[in-house]
Amino acid sequence: MNCFSNMFLACLSVFLLAIACEGFGGRKAGGLTYVNPEDLEVQAYANFAVDEVNKRRNGFFKEKLVEVRQAQSQVVMGKMFHLNVTIQSTLCKKTDNTELEDCKFDQNAKKERCSLRVWVQPFLELGVPVPPTLEDPIICTKESSKISESDSRFQEFEDFRAKFERKYEVNSEEYVQKYYIFSDNMDTAKTYNEMEQGTATYGASKFADMTPAEFKEKHTGLKVDAKKPTPHMRQGKLPASTSPTPASFDWRTKGAVTPVKNQASCGSCWAFSTTGNIEGQWMIKKKHLLSLSEQQLVDCDKLDSGCEGGLPSNAYESIISMGGLEPESQYKYKGVDEKCELDKADIKVYINGSVNITSDESKMTTWLHSNGPISIGINAAMMQFYMGGVAHPFKIFCNPGSLDHGVLIVGYGTKAGIIWGENPYWIIKNSWGPDWGEEGYYLAYRGDGVCGLNTMCTSAEVE
Ligand SMILES: *[C@@H]1O[C@H](CO)[C@@H](O)[C@H](O)[C@H]1NC(C)=O
Ligand SMILES: *[C@@H]1O[C@H](CO)[C@@H](O)[C@H](O)[C@H]1NC(C)=O
Ligand SMILES: *[C@@H]1O[C@H](CO)[C@@H](O)[C@H](O)[C@H]1NC(C)=O
Repeated sequence: MNCFSNMFLACLSVFLLAIACEGFGGRKAGGLTYVNPEDLEVQAYANFAVDEVNKRRNGFFKEKLVEVRQAQSQVVMGKMFHLNVTIQSTLCKKTDNTELEDCKFDQNAKKERCSLRVWVQPFLELGVPVPPTLEDPIICTKESSKISESDSRFQEFEDFRAKFERKYEVNSEEYVQKYYIFSDNMDTAKTYNEMEQGTATYGASKFADMTPAEFKEKHTGLKVDAKKPTPHMRQGKLPASTSPTPASFDWRTKGAVTPVKNQASCGSCWAFSTTGNIEGQWMIKKKHLLSLSEQQLVDCDKLDSGCEGGLPSNAYESIISMGGLEPESQYKYKGVDEKCELDKADIKVYINGSVNITSDESKMTTWLHSNGPISIGINAAMMQFYMGGVAHPFKIFCNPGSLDHGVLIVGYGTKAGIIWGENPYWIIKNSWGPDWGEEGYYLAYRGDGVCGLNTMCTSAEVE
């Protein structure tokens, strides 16, 4: 560690103390706060901690940070960072002068999983901030090539594997890798549970053995393309009458919603969100519920990118230029990009236009009740481990500005909370099959812009 980086960390500590009081709503003093492992400060403190580990250990070779897996901070006379990191030995000897960042990993060395705590103190010494310290104990365990009954999540993992019929063989390389991913995910789910403001619970869903990055790539697919601004959409009109909307309402009970579908490993959520909306519009206007083809959109909608993502607002335009949609039964879902096989003679449903819907959730309630299910964009980060209940996460877990998934609001209601009183919620149809969430549905708190669910609301129009 050179002087420059010490100064950097010292300055960083002052900066952090300055913002420490800002915090976010509902944080318990002294409680743990989740921090993004990729934050610059977190990365800087993790690298500092690994440097300290190198100084305190006797090994010949320098260890280097592979990744910060999880990070939390706590206000205790300054800040304590709890970091779960993975480190691995490099080919640089400690006696070498090579900078750690230029050292190559020793691919044959076992990775180590460490829980480290870095204390960033508020004190000044001669007017200069006291540098951070790595606290004892340093707890590291080598990743083993075998998982045994004594490993802490062994039984949970076995239960998960049985429930979702995972085929990987016990203690195969894949099994061990999945075990560690599962174990990190269950730590994350535990944090989500502790921080939940609604009634939702998080745990070993069918996506519990995927890294969050892999999950996002394979199972979402809303592509918010900054380079190509969405054309301005007409604003959807609210009914002129001022009669109040009922306290709860569900388009499923009106026969306007098809059974939950499954996008599988393809970023086609946007197509499901779109067909779900049009299925509802067609049923409401033409009194006929028909399941519509997502694969037609994946293959033929050239404004969007099939399994690589898309947007409902683009899809409406494509559908108008294609002349409409074929039913699911004519153009079946494959979950991979294929060549367009649209047969205009098989088109059964058309749309005449599309509208943008207000982001005011009480007006959205009125719109939904009088017009039908709404296509929405949402940040799906917390949905990976969702097990059921009304989800009401803090905004730091679920940035409303990072939409990555397209789904469909089909209704709303209110449930009594466990601690926090009433929980008004949206009923959201997802496209991950009925064995996820509340039989394929997600209940999200209504009225707090949860995960950005009110920021990209649209509908097709059928006349
Ligand atoms: C770090 O790992 C420990 C041990 O697996 C776990 O108990 C803890 O919840 C993890 N911390 C975070 C911030 O996830
Ligand atoms: C739709 O309305 C929202 C606010 O309600 C606005 O932020 C957004 O830019 C509009 N989108 C389009 C495509 O007009
Ligand atoms: C809606 O679109 C269909 C198909 O393009 C067309 O036949 C119909 O006339 C349109 N309706 C109105 C009111 O424009």
